[in-house]
Amino acid sequence: MTMTSLDEQARAILRGNDQGGYTLPTHGLYPYQWNWDSAFAAWGFATFDNARAWDELDTLMASQWDTGMVPHIIFHKPDPGYFPGPDVWQTGQSPATSGITQPPVAAIMARKVWEMDPKAGQARMAALYPKLLAWHRWWHEVRCTHGPAAITHPWESGRDNCPDWDIGMAGVDGSSAGEYQRRDTGHVNPEMRPTKQDYDRYIAMVKFGCSVDWDQARIVRDGPFLMADPGITFMLLRADEDLAVMGRALGEDVTELLGWAEDLRAALPTIWNDDLHAYDALNLKTGEFANILGSGAFMAYLADAGNPQLDAQLMRVWDKVNYGIPSADPEAATFDPRKYWRGPTWPVVNALLAIGLRDAGRADLAERLRAQTASLIRKHGFYEYFDPLDATPCGGADFTWTAAIWLTWAGRDVESDAVRGAA
Ligand code: DGY
Repeated sequence: MTMTSLDEQARAILRGNDQGGYTLPTHGLYPYQWNWDSAFAAWGFATFDNARAWDELDTLMASQWDTGMVPHIIFHKPDPGYFPGPDVWQTGQSPATSGITQPPVAAIMARKVWEMDPKAGQARMAALYPKLLAWHRWWHEVRCTHGPAAITHPWESGRDNCPDWDIGMAGVDGSSAGEYQRRDTGHVNPEMRPTKQDYDRYIAMVKFGCSVDWDQARIVRDGPFLMADPGITFMLLRADEDLAVMGRALGEDVTELLGWAEDLRAALPTIWNDDLHAYDALNLKTGEFANILGSGAFMAYLADAGNPQLDAQLMRVWDKVNYGIPSADPEAATFDPRKYWRGPTWPVVNALLAIGLRDAGRADLAERLRAQTASLIRKHGFYEYFDPLDATPCGGADFTWTAAIWLTWAGRDVESDAVRGAA
């Protein structure tokens, strides 16, 4: 397969998943608009249709709640192929949305889209800026009340079933989930998806949110699950700084934004686990660390928060696998190389990490990660995630964010850049 044909395939996936203003992560498994998937889709579109990239971000932010929260799913059109749908979430929004959020990468991606064509993007960015700012305000005021960014449902982390959340999940009573039929396991191999016990608890958490009318203060205070997420903490910090760059370019006063970022940076020591020699998820209900090294810790590089101990951990887990960064520690008992976030490597996470590594002056590592990620896609196509030991493709095929990161990063090796004449 030539480079050019993979570029063409990636563009065809974005166009094929495009529903007119928003993009599905993939047909079947994820038939709506997902928050962080959409931000990556925008980055991918920006390589060939800058206006369409901004449309994606506009559509996402159009479903922002009055509180500032941007929901993790927007149910534009009913689709019985997905569970839990709008009737389960009952958020009363129009269009219907879920009641939780997802990693705030939109500002990171908006900055990239803008930098790819600053002139064309200026007015689009100006329109988006206040909405992104309101979402960041929500994160800081509602979810950083303990210092680092907290999640109230594992799905908010984007790394749904990673071992980081096991201790928090253990405190959730799944029996209130009642009877329901999962749809995800009808689309892809159930071995690659979360367990039934996990799902019962996910649904029980959704039911709790409904029971308090999605009142965030109550969910944080009384809900069944509250954990500090290193991944989101670092992404938010990076996103704050990217938003501040855009704010300055627009002539905005970014003092408040920089103040949030400073407070968040000051809170980083609270998620550093000395015993683990790494950043760690923290159960805010009990004060216990997860004692699990996950890919969220490595998002530290995105926020200029790496250190030699974390470098050593990165090299240790990376050297244990053959392709990309595993989502969980390959030496831990919980490691499962094909089960969603319990071991597989995710091209989209590799792309974020490479941005961080490059910024940290580790272009050699960023290139190694790019080459490994590219080889997975060249071997098997644009899958959702892969077994990091033997490259087995996992989850959904023709995946939007995998196609997007091919166009923006993984497929941009020396050869293709020469062909495209790009910088
Ligand atoms: C799912 O349904 O598996 C999603 O990851 C939750 O958003």
